[in-house]
Amino acid sequence: MFKEILFLLSLGCYSEAANILYIIPYAEKSHYIMLRPIGLELAKRGHNVTVITSFKETDHPSGYHQIMVDDVGSDDKTAFGGNDGSRPNLFTTVDMSTETILWKFLWVGGLALTENYLKSKQVQEFLAKDNTFDMVISEQFAQEAFYILAHKYNAPLGLVSTFGNCMKHNIVTRNPLQMATVTFEWAEIPEPTTFVGRLKNLYYSLYEYAYWKYWFLYEQERLMTKYIPNIPQPVPSLFEMQKNASLLLMNGHFTFDPPTAYLPNIVEIGGAHLSHSKSQLPVDLKKILDEAPHGVVYVSLGSNVKSAELPIEKKNAFIKVFGSLKETVLWKWEDDDLGPIPKNIVTRKWMPQKDVLAHPNVKVFISHGGLIGTQEATYNGVPIIGIPITGDQYNNLLLAQNIGFGRILRYHDISEETLGNNLKEVLKDDSFKNKAIEIADRFKDRPMNALDTAMFWIEYVIRNKGANYMKNPAMDLSWVAANMLDVYTFVLFVVLIIIFVAIKVVLGLINMVGIGDNRVAQKRKRS
Ligand SMILES: *[C@@H]1O[C@H](CO)[C@@H](O)[C@H](O)[C@H]1NC(C)=O
Repeated sequence: MFKEILFLLSLGCYSEAANILYIIPYAEKSHYIMLRPIGLELAKRGHNVTVITSFKETDHPSGYHQIMVDDVGSDDKTAFGGNDGSRPNLFTTVDMSTETILWKFLWVGGLALTENYLKSKQVQEFLAKDNTFDMVISEQFAQEAFYILAHKYNAPLGLVSTFGNCMKHNIVTRNPLQMATVTFEWAEIPEPTTFVGRLKNLYYSLYEYAYWKYWFLYEQERLMTKYIPNIPQPVPSLFEMQKNASLLLMNGHFTFDPPTAYLPNIVEIGGAHLSHSKSQLPVDLKKILDEAPHGVVYVSLGSNVKSAELPIEKKNAFIKVFGSLKETVLWKWEDDDLGPIPKNIVTRKWMPQKDVLAHPNVKVFISHGGLIGTQEATYNGVPIIGIPITGDQYNNLLLAQNIGFGRILRYHDISEETLGNNLKEVLKDDSFKNKAIEIADRFKDRPMNALDTAMFWIEYVIRNKGANYMKNPAMDLSWVAANMLDVYTFVLFVVLIIIFVAIKVVLGLINMVGIGDNRVAQKRKRS
């Protein structure tokens, strides 16, 4: 009882409802899974939340207002598709270089999505109105033009990253760069701490940063100027906007990701979409899971990948191996024409993944290693066999493999033999399950759950008018000064001068002695 009263008091300590603009401009389902509860929870706590989104919520608190941008949110017009609605076979991205992925999905895709959102009738109507906001929150991904709305409404800017630690933001805010231990989020670096690993990390980080700062941000500014009316003068650059962000909420946690140093306004909220999750399994799925005598193998390659695009020989390898198991196999498969399949395989076009993974009968998760799915497995203590396709998936799986509750199976290596061996090992060897449970416990062991942590810091920033005192004072220094390079250079210079002078003096002395010796020698010769 006392606990409940304390809880109510803690909820009540922030009684003032704020007007919050929440921008979810990247029409990606997996991103939305992570971003969704933040807007809904803010509204539930009594705030007036206006959301720019392409994912419609039907059951929401009354203070949740949606600016629906529905013409970019359909499945085939996501960032992975072209502007014309075309969409590549995602399995072909396995062989794309990091640079290509950055260009295609992050930059070209990001600009197309930003423009589609900004020019939409709904957003244009919204921008034409006289709005006031106490805080503007936006996803940090590839749509920086929206950041200017914080300036437009004279409100603090909060960013939410669906990724964990982010190189760009670290550089901009002068948060210490920890390139020796934090891998660049889009690169595949099997041994990040080796010399070659660190060299690659530096290369990719600089590559992204240079194009982002000197090209992409200007393109974003072009869209901003074209579509956003009445921006108060002087208009700050989008680089300045990001630099001045009051808060960055990040989808990571040190119990899974490598621990790093953070400024006080960078907060880890990894697993926020799982904190208040109370949904239940549909009756039919629950029955299948409850009544699987030997447990369940759950298979899903994510929300973007279409199983029909899987080459026939790989598809057949899956079916053969699954058919030979005594476990029940629950497979997210979007097409009807899987053909005749063994009795122990059950397919569904869609599955409530976090609820499936929460079921105690699930023995292993065969996944593509997307961050959301990896966190859901982590949270529920389920070992992973991961087939990375693109983006950050390899890195997520590498962490799981290094911790000891995951196995990476390369896409090109998929065969009856490799899949069978991996499954046999993970199902038989208890160390995978034990490790998974250990990680699940420590992932949840926090002073406050992830979603409440996000709420606390958002309300904190509003309460403290942007909490500017949390920002890094090094932000105001040049990069050279912030890294002490000018002072180091000066000290090095002084040391070199001292060494130089010392050498001169010593040489001079030797010379004098030498000349003396020479004279003696010459005298001897003459005599
Ligand atoms: C809440 O937000 C809606 C939609 O943006 C706006 O029309 C309304 O005036 C706001 N309410 C308050 C009390 O600020």
